[in-house]
Amino acid sequence: MLLIPGPASRELGEEIARLAQLELGKLESKLFPDGESYLRLESNVERREVAIVQSTYPPQDRHIMQLLLMADNLKSLGASRTVAIIPYMAYARQDKRFLEGEAISIETILKMFKHAGIDEIITVNIHSPWILQHASISVTNLDATGLLARHSHNLGLSSPLIVSPGKKGEAMASVAAKEIGTDFAPVHSERDPHTGEVKIIVEADVKDRDVLFIDDIISTGGTAIKTVKTLKKLGARRIVVSCIHALMIGDADKKLLEVGAEKLVATNTIPNRYAEVSIAPLIAQYLKRER
Ligand code: R5P
Repeated sequence: MLLIPGPASRELGEEIARLAQLELGKLESKLFPDGESYLRLESNVERREVAIVQSTYPPQDRHIMQLLLMADNLKSLGASRTVAIIPYMAYARQDKRFLEGEAISIETILKMFKHAGIDEIITVNIHSPWILQHASISVTNLDATGLLARHSHNLGLSSPLIVSPGKKGEAMASVAAKEIGTDFAPVHSERDPHTGEVKIIVEADVKDRDVLFIDDIISTGGTAIKTVKTLKKLGARRIVVSCIHALMIGDADKKLLEVGAEKLVATNTIPNRYAEVSIAPLIAQYLKRER
């Protein structure tokens, strides 16, 4: 298998290739003055299985377009099979019609990837894993919760209570708690589809406890900020906030630190300043096992 890092994930792609002991392919990329992407494959891909690594963090549309260009180009240059490693899958949060007439973006995105010639997708903690059962393309969803929890635990928290919002968060918290041998508590978040307003209810006694907040994604930070505020009000001691996908839109990180988070920790599915945990070993291990 040849591995080609896309413009959005050069460093991560190189790390995966090194750990999985895969040959590294070469791709030239640049932006035209009008913002369109130019890509030129410099490796021979004829009759080869090729993995491309391209995360689709902001600017999502550009990174998706580059992924489509890469995949279609591979197909037309004779690659036998294309695997797309998409550490952060954009457009995954609109997975159903919350309001009548809305576009179900994740379905559209997956159809586009398939049409461009992608045979298989490997992603990490996709927002709605349940949609994958009926997806138009084979998607493997790897879970980085264990990696993140282990790293965060090593920061010196004392028997931290793990909290994570929502039903999916509860499952995530349970995985993290098992990983480091501690307990977890459900946190309910309710988002109003019209105003975006989020309400938080923590179902535990957090007084004088260290807390590890863990979530799949921090976007505007609204959910995490409200949870940290609630935890502080309830008397929590040290609070570390961690997430797999750190979008950190606007001042999300600054606000989190202001309301009482002691430290922020994230993975590198999206390049960010809190990326202390690399998901490269998780992906490399999967590639080695499956191939
Ligand atoms: C919700 O289902 C997710 O797990 C996150 O809690 C949420 O999407 C984060 O978004 P924001 O940072 O904008 O509150």
